[in-house]
Amino acid sequence: MTPILSATNLSKTFGSGDSAVHAVTDVSLQVQPGELILIKGPSGSGKTTLLSILGGLMRADTGVVSLAGQELTALGEGALAELRARKIGFVFQAYNLLGALNVEENILFPARLIPGHYAKARQQAAPLIERLGLTHRRKARPHQLSGGEKQRVAVARALINDPPLILADEPTGNLDSERGSEVAMLLHDIARKDNRAVVIVTHDQRIEDIADRILWLEDGRIRDRKQEPHEWTRDPVCGMRVDRWVARNVADYEDVAYAFCSADCHERFVADPARFAPTS
Ligand SMILES: Nc1ncnc2c1ncn2[C@@H]1O[C@H](COP(=O)(O)OP(=O)(O)OP(=O)(O)O)[C@@H](O)[C@H]1O
Ligand SMILES: [Mg+2]
Repeated sequence: MTPILSATNLSKTFGSGDSAVHAVTDVSLQVQPGELILIKGPSGSGKTTLLSILGGLMRADTGVVSLAGQELTALGEGALAELRARKIGFVFQAYNLLGALNVEENILFPARLIPGHYAKARQQAAPLIERLGLTHRRKARPHQLSGGEKQRVAVARALINDPPLILADEPTGNLDSERGSEVAMLLHDIARKDNRAVVIVTHDQRIEDIADRILWLEDGRIRDRKQEPHEWTRDPVCGMRVDRWVARNVADYEDVAYAFCSADCHERFVADPARFAPTS
């Protein structure tokens, strides 16, 4: 089967010299239609950078990205923007909804990026809005919506141009457990029923349960973690056991990486690291 998305030997470095950050190093991957893939890894491991490169929002220093057989990396800005609009739906953690537009207008926004597509998209919008349970909210502005509703608008907007590839960065990050499960099921549906490729960066266990494959990134490299995808450490502030691979709150102090159970513990540590760092 031809993969919808294929990436070969991607690398990306920010900055240079002593301050160089190797955000992505030699990453290769393929995603088939109908597949739901998860990218996990500690904070700063390069997940957002990789997703941005896969979606043609950022250029890699080296390596090749192909989408449905077409090489993204070989395209100029104009052609790349059009390919992105046709073939890729993005769901961002921060929703990125436009405050001046209502739900329906936000969802239809990407349709304007494809010449001659708007009238058709308008017809498709109603069933899509219905599918996402937003019919009664279609004239509401983003500030009037709950977090879950905003997230569903972001998913609908990603689908309006009927793209074969969906990329999502922490799509359930701000949702409570019921809404989060709903969006997780929706993304699953979008992969399976619509036969789209879905790539999700997430720390969310609920999505882990429905993924076909999990790719673990560590320091910008894909690491083979078929065995035990956990690495337990102690939160130096409260002493709680924390999984380094999913911890949201992390800090470096004297060349040691610490992980925290919460933003609270993280803040207390950063305010006075010498107090909490174990002395060796
Ligand atoms: N525009 C940039 N300029 C310089 N460094 C950057 C830039 N974007 C990201 N980085 C660095 O590259 C590394 C990878 O960042 P990235 O945002 O991809 O991590 P992440 O895995 O998405 O982290 P998180 O889970 O916290 O969202 C980090 O060390 C980050 O500081
Ligand atoms: Mg990120």
